Amino acid sequence: MAPASPVVVLVFFAVTVPLSAAAGATLVFPKEALPTKSGYLPIPPANASLFFAFYEATQPLTAPASTPLLLWLQGGPGCSSLLGNFFELGPYFVTPDAETLSPNPFAWNRRFGLLFIDSPLGTGFSAAPSPADIPTNQSVIAAHILAALQSFLALDPSFHARPFFLAGESYAGKYVPATGAHILDVNPTLPEARRVNLRGVAIGNGLTHPVAQVATHADSAYFTGLINARQKRELEELQAEAVALTRAERWREASDARGRVLSRLQNMTGLATLYDAAKQRPYQTEPVAAFLNRAEAKAALGARGDVAWEECSDAVGAAMHADVMRSVRPEAESLLRRTRVLLYQGVRDLRDGVVSTEAWLGGVGWHGLHAFLDADRAVWRTRGDGELAGYVQCSGALSHAVVYGAGHLVPADNGRAAQEMIEDWVLQAGPFGRRGGDGLRCAA
Ligand SMILES: *[C@@H]1O[C@H](CO)[C@@H](O)[C@H](O)[C@H]1NC(C)=O
Ligand SMILES: *[C@@H]1O[C@H](CO)[C@@H](O)[C@H](O)[C@H]1NC(C)=O
Ligand SMILES: *[C@@H]1O[C@H](CO)[C@@H](O)[C@H](O)[C@H]1NC(C)=O
Repeated sequence: MAPASPVVVLVFFAVTVPLSAAAGATLVFPKEALPTKSGYLPIPPANASLFFAFYEATQPLTAPASTPLLLWLQGGPGCSSLLGNFFELGPYFVTPDAETLSPNPFAWNRRFGLLFIDSPLGTGFSAAPSPADIPTNQSVIAAHILAALQSFLALDPSFHARPFFLAGESYAGKYVPATGAHILDVNPTLPEARRVNLRGVAIGNGLTHPVAQVATHADSAYFTGLINARQKRELEELQAEAVALTRAERWREASDARGRVLSRLQNMTGLATLYDAAKQRPYQTEPVAAFLNRAEAKAALGARGDVAWEECSDAVGAAMHADVMRSVRPEAESLLRRTRVLLYQGVRDLRDGVVSTEAWLGGVGWHGLHAFLDADRAVWRTRGDGELAGYVQCSGALSHAVVYGAGHLVPADNGRAAQEMIEDWVLQAGPFGRRGGDGLRCAA
């Protein structure tokens, strides 16, 4: 792990956007949709910073000083967390015509403060000073996120003591374990005022231990009827190549081999997207880019006007190419021993879905694994209408939720279930409530 960086002096340069900066832009960016704070958080190397947008809790159930904070990290590698903000779980979504914003009834900032950071450097509005500054591995990314987080927590004296949760999706299945473990490793070495009060991590449809996950595509497609037995064998051969190259630590070739598995599967199934077996069209995210590249939107968010916002950065993808097949399972194991972990997947995802997650989870080195695998899987229904939301299984530090009616972007597909899930898991209520006061099981 990279050593803690001396960011304490840098926090004084943190930029936040005054609300008045949005004057004149309110038609495009309604005032009520503005972040509570947004702008840039300095990180090493000198002159670099990560873009953030923060939305305070709108209806907290807790006193302000104990209202949780949750950081959301997008996947990719190199996709902007503003996709999460404006398409999946933020308080306002970009309208399909890209003209303005409309409220999201299932926003994740109802019960707790919600922070989005564009990371790694080079992603979204976080322009890299030079291409050489784009991270190529998880330890640099984790150090950058911690530095940005310390800058953020210093913006308001009340932030520091609030319970903090780290969450993300897809390739954030790497960032969340790497960053979470880094935080818990360096916390004891930091003065009290710079520690992060990490209380749990959540990963949606994550890529965490790719060597096990890449071997599951043939099975999951075959057993859902999307390919036949001969195609299954063909895919298994491609998967075996990816596994062998990973074991040989030929990282770039291994990453290419995984790409061949996915593109062959795409070709065989004719699906619009492997991210959701039920969709006739890919996720319609284009309006987000059209909106965020409007000068009024950049000004309202305090983003640099000279940075063209891309949903996913090819430069970051290229810089991280050799990281794709590397595992962060050891970091996930270390988190299971030290904090709470939620793994959730939309059931319709063919890239990083339920089978893929269970494949790496089955081999995890954690004393609670046996009890977890033996635990009941409860049917989970939404509170208001009693509709099927999915399935929840938990034991000890680990909770696993399968989300019904959702593909890879769970909050975009099933907002109601996703909101109930994250709120209940953070607050240890509903299906994630403590039973018998031991904190060890889900409520049935
Ligand atoms: C940081 O930016 C300033 C102003 O643009 C420049 O003068 C300085 O050389 C930069 N420092 C580094 C380390 O790049
Ligand atoms: C990660 O990248 C940095 C910067 O290139 C390098 O110094 C460091 O050794 C790398 N760490 C690992 C674990 O590969
Ligand atoms: C799959 O690939 C083959 C050969 O490259 C091509 O002819 C075919 O049209 C592709 N099918 C689909 C559904 O993309």
